[in-house]
Amino acid sequence: MTAQSSARIYRGTPRDLARLSRILRGGGLVAVPTETVYGLAANALDAAACRKIFRAKRRPSHDPLIVHIHSSAQLEMLAEPNDAARKLAQKFWPGPLTIILPKRAIVPAIVSAGLSSVAVRMPRHPLFRKLLERTGMPLAAPSANLFGYVSPTSAEHVANGLGNKIAHILDGGPSAIGVESTIVDLRDPHAPRLLRPGAVTRRELERVLGTRIRLPRKTRNDRAQISPGRLPRHYSPRTPSVLHERISPSAPTRAPATEAWVFIAKPRDVSGQNIFWLDDRGQLSGAARRLFDVLRKLDDGRFTRIHFERAQGGGLADAINDRLKRAAGKEPSKR
Ligand code: TXA
Ligand code: MG
Repeated sequence: MTAQSSARIYRGTPRDLARLSRILRGGGLVAVPTETVYGLAANALDAAACRKIFRAKRRPSHDPLIVHIHSSAQLEMLAEPNDAARKLAQKFWPGPLTIILPKRAIVPAIVSAGLSSVAVRMPRHPLFRKLLERTGMPLAAPSANLFGYVSPTSAEHVANGLGNKIAHILDGGPSAIGVESTIVDLRDPHAPRLLRPGAVTRRELERVLGTRIRLPRKTRNDRAQISPGRLPRHYSPRTPSVLHERISPSAPTRAPATEAWVFIAKPRDVSGQNIFWLDDRGQLSGAARRLFDVLRKLDDGRFTRIHFERAQGGGLADAINDRLKRAAGKEPSKR
């Protein structure tokens, strides 16, 4: 997937930020660092600019974008927040939480893919916050990868995937969290729904709201319900992948050496060129941070199959397992 990159990479000096905010105000695209994954940003109020995002990513127009804001005033401008949304914003913003609310007319239809709702997030990454402030506009940004592929967590990942389609990448270092934001649907504040698990956990949301958060409906065709990040195969490497509840230490020795085995923690009883792990001590924050980098590295054609082991526990484990499940395209198998 490595493209010849002609994109310029910026370090984020004051001059860089001045230039990039001018580009954004002029209707251009800039790839930006966030604490979750890198995004491909455009002025959210400029439909023509947002159309360029869909073209660069080859993203289908029915997949709506997340709008990133710098201030609470911008939330009021874009959406109709309710008390539940204000509570969550107060507690978790700036941070890895996206809130779905009824949208106002100012949001172009292309941003919300024609839906009557809009997804809003106030990110925490300091460089992105500076850029948002300088630009003075809300910025629509999906993950900065070709549609359906693994999300990028470094400027290099962005350049590998989109480097011949975009001209400007702001490098803010590796993403600190490494998986996309939690998405919660608050259109009905009395029946909140978790559309995508992330670093802000369902339990934390329930504690702040004092209500149960439901999981998404399992419909296949209802476009208004299904959020496209929820397609069964998404965030996918090209190498066929399998998700296991547990990998027994003897499984790799029985399989061909062209198959890769990825554990959450460093395994004690198995080693080799085809054995990998996400975090030495099995810490979930480290595993989430490295997940997409490992997926991309193992997807270079070396292996005929990638085996993953599920993360144990709740919280961030739900987010990791959700991405592993989508990478593999189905539920875990026993082995
Ligand atoms: O962490 C993140 O959320 C990153 C960074 C860049 O902020 N963004 C991101 O965007 O992951 P991405 O590529 O997943 O696309 C946004 C997703 C859509 O695929 C859809 O699932 C959901 O957000 N979404 C956006 N607007 C929505 C809406 N009105 N209703 C339901 N889901 C929506
Ligand atoms: Mg994406």
